[in-house]
Amino acid sequence: MNIAVIGCGYWGSHILRNFNNSESWNLTIACDLDKKQLNKVKSQYPNVELTSNPEDIFKRDDIDAVAIATPVFSHFELAKSSLLSGKHTWVEKPLTSTVKEAEELLKIAEEKNLILNVDHTYIYTSAVQKIKELIDEGALGDILYFDSVRINLGLFQHDINVIWDLAPHDISILEYCTGKKAVSVNATGKCVMPYSDKNIENVAYLNINFDDGSIAHIHVNWLSPVKIRKIIFGGSKKMLVFDDMENAEKIKIYDSGVRIEKKEDIYESLIQYRIGDMVSPSISNKEALKEEVEHFYQSIKSSTNTMTDGEMGLRVVKILEAANQSLNNNGQLVPIL
Ligand SMILES: NC(=O)c1ccc[n+]([C@@H]2O[C@H](COP(=O)([O-])OP(=O)(O)OC[C@H]3O[C@@H](n4cnc5c(N)ncnc54)[C@H](O)[C@@H]3O)[C@@H](O)[C@H]2O)c1
Repeated sequence: MNIAVIGCGYWGSHILRNFNNSESWNLTIACDLDKKQLNKVKSQYPNVELTSNPEDIFKRDDIDAVAIATPVFSHFELAKSSLLSGKHTWVEKPLTSTVKEAEELLKIAEEKNLILNVDHTYIYTSAVQKIKELIDEGALGDILYFDSVRINLGLFQHDINVIWDLAPHDISILEYCTGKKAVSVNATGKCVMPYSDKNIENVAYLNINFDDGSIAHIHVNWLSPVKIRKIIFGGSKKMLVFDDMENAEKIKIYDSGVRIEKKEDIYESLIQYRIGDMVSPSISNKEALKEEVEHFYQSIKSSTNTMTDGEMGLRVVKILEAANQSLNNNGQLVPIL
C-alpha cells in the first residue's frame, strides 16, 4: 500500500523511517511546509516524492493512506481532508484540539468505511502489552489507583500546554490497560516560566475519577531537572511499577499490600502488611512504531479497527478538554460526558 506522510519534523522523521523500512508499505510522498525539512527527507530517501502542499496528496488516487505528524492545531483540517479524499488516516496524538472536531472525524471515517488510527505509540510497546495481559488475567486484582509521573526538561510547545503534550501518553495507557470509564477530572497547573504572549502551562497535576470509585493522578512537567517516566498501578492483589527509563527491568510486580482485620472489641481495624517478592518479567524491546505501522496495515487489510482507533482518540481528547476546562477554573471538578 502507498503511504504519504505530512509533517516531517521530530516525530515525523520516526514515522518516515518506519514506513520506509516496512515490507508492507511503499513510502511514496512526503509533505512539509518547511523546505529545510523536505531537503532532509530527500537526502535520506532519494526516491520519495516531495511536496509542500498537502492537496497534492489528497487529490492522488494511488495513495492509500496518509500519516499526519504536524502540530496539534492542524490535525483536524488535514485529517478531515485526508478522510474526505478516501484515504485511511493515521493522526498523531492527541487526535484533535477539541471533542467536537474528534467526533466529526470519527463520523467521516465511519461513513466512508476508512481506518482512523491515532498514534498513541505507548500501546504498541511490549511493556504496555504485558501490563494489559497481567491486568486482564487478574494478576494484580482490582486496580485501585493509578499514579503517573512524566517529567523532564521538555520541549516547550507553542500551540499546546504540557497536559495536551504529555498526558495523552498516560491517559491512553490507563484507558487501554484498565478499560475504566473516566467520569470527572480536576486539574491544576501554572505557566511557572512564561515564554510567549500566551499563558501556556508548563507544570500540571490531573486527578481523574472513574465510575468504579478508583482514581488516577498524573503529574506532567516540562521544567524538571530529572527525567522521570514512572507509573504505578495499585492493585488489590499486587502492585506494578512501570519505569520507562529502565533499560532491563521496565516492569516490576510487587507482591505487596495490606490486609485489614476487624476486631470487634478494638476501635480501629488492624492493618497487616504483606511485603512479598518482586518479580520483573522479561519483555522484548521491539520498536513500538514498527509494530504500529504493521498493525495499521493489517487493520486496513482486514477492515478492523486498530488498538488505538478514533474511539480511543476521542476518549483521550474528552479527558484533556475537561482537564483544561478545570485548569481555567481553579481546579474545579469537571464531568466527562
Ligand atoms: N506519539 C508520540 O510519542 C509523539 C512524540 C512526539 C510528538 N508527537 C506528535 O507529533 C506531532 C508533531 O510533533 P513534532 O514534535 O514532530 O513537531 P515538529 O515541529 O518537530 O514537526 C512538525 C512538522 O510539521 C510541519 N507542518 C506544520 N504544519 C504543516 C502543514 N499544514 N502541512 C505540512 N507540514 C506542516 C512543520 O513544518 C514541521 O516540520 C504532534 O502532534 C505531537 O503531539 C507524538
